[in-house]
Amino acid sequence: MRELDLSGLDPDAVPNHVGLILDGNGRWANQRGLHRTEGHRAGEESLFDCIRGAIDMGVGWLTAFTFSTENWSRDPEEVAFLMWFNEDLLVRRRDVLHEWNVRIFFAGDLADERVPERNRIRMRESEELTKDNTGMSMVFAFNYGSRWELTEATRKIARRVASGDLDPEEITEFTIAENLAVPEMPDLDLLIRSSGEHRLSNFLLWQAAYAEFAFPGILWPDFDKQRLLEAILEYQRRDRRFGGAVDRSDAEDDR
Ligand code: IPE
Ligand code: MG
Repeated sequence: MRELDLSGLDPDAVPNHVGLILDGNGRWANQRGLHRTEGHRAGEESLFDCIRGAIDMGVGWLTAFTFSTENWSRDPEEVAFLMWFNEDLLVRRRDVLHEWNVRIFFAGDLADERVPERNRIRMRESEELTKDNTGMSMVFAFNYGSRWELTEATRKIARRVASGDLDPEEITEFTIAENLAVPEMPDLDLLIRSSGEHRLSNFLLWQAAYAEFAFPGILWPDFDKQRLLEAILEYQRRDRRFGGAVDRSDAEDDR
């Protein structure tokens, strides 16, 4: 692995939460005359290279979209591969994540009966193994979709209202945030989607309210921590205003 040159990075302005939409594995494989599953295998290297890089850069939270609620519509053979692969990957990689002091979380509909029990077991074990870790938090968004997440949050809140435990007038943005899949998850600062597609695809809709977006035109298996660093350097050049006004001193550039 090549070492990162972090000299241009402002350590005080590293995005606290980076989201990754890993896209382009199938196209990468097709271009090489390989089966789509080979693209997913190659993509695993990119993801773990990025995890290492994110830790070294000081990212607090990294969320990777590994299987969406819409991915069930793929060929059953690819779905079966992705289920097996997501489980196998945990078995092979969780010890090193633990060594790196990473805390592992999962966001997604794990009660869905289409998710194999084996996967649920590995996920529970991985969360348990790393629950006291104090380094970066790594979220695997697996069988995840924002509309599912917001629907679930609504249900939980509605139950409390129905039981008389919560007054609807007391519901705030915080009430919604604390009922999302991973209540500790902070807002997203930087969202990266590889492969040149410019879509959010039901990923972190609530959390991305003020996120910056990066769409590198690179297929996911060609992505790595160097590309991640470049996206973060670009993020550090942006002016985040969260709906505030442009600072007069740089207003001219902003017309
Ligand atoms: C992303 O790559 C893989 C998943 C996270 C499921 P794709 O499988 O979507 O690759 P393309 O878009 O077909 O190239
Ligand atoms: Mg795709």
